[in-house]
Amino acid sequence: MESAIYPGSFDPVTYGHIDIIKRAADIFDRLTVSVLNNRVKTSLFSVEERVNIIKEVTKDIPNVSVASYDGLLIDYCKQTNANVIIRGLRAITDFEYELQMAQTNRKLGEDVDTIFLTTSLEYAYLSSSTVREVASFGGDISKFVPPFIADMVYERYGVVR
Ligand code: PNS
Repeated sequence: MESAIYPGSFDPVTYGHIDIIKRAADIFDRLTVSVLNNRVKTSLFSVEERVNIIKEVTKDIPNVSVASYDGLLIDYCKQTNANVIIRGLRAITDFEYELQMAQTNRKLGEDVDTIFLTTSLEYAYLSSSTVREVASFGGDISKFVPPFIADMVYERYGVVR
């Protein structure tokens, strides 16, 4: 039984993340999308809100569950018996950071491998920070996130559209 974790900040989850979730769920028996509880980084949505948002967008995918974690990703993988970490690669600019993270995690836990899925081309430009920035100026984020998430993001920024 291959169990994979798709970790991230997901602040908020985008169509790019959702694409990776669907594709990873087709490959692995079980996929856990897990939100890092980062006490240092300030986020638009709380961890609980992000978990609930991801639960809503993945509710029709039976082998996907949603959780959160504190501390080192590799410790979380060991605690949950996950042997694969999924990450999406959008462009060469992601590569250095992702390679460093994957190699660090491999040093810390040799039983856990990172597998990269290349982001579908239509989402190659997309990031949560882009979504936040466009929304904060009242721009259209309907091509970036599902409608109920767009509403939540606008509400958080006090934007009326
Ligand atoms: O969506 P993000 O912010 O690019 O995801 C990064 C994340 C959350 C996967 C990564 O920062 C993480 O898991 N951090 C937890 C701390 C950790 O394990 N650090 C060592 C790996 S270099």
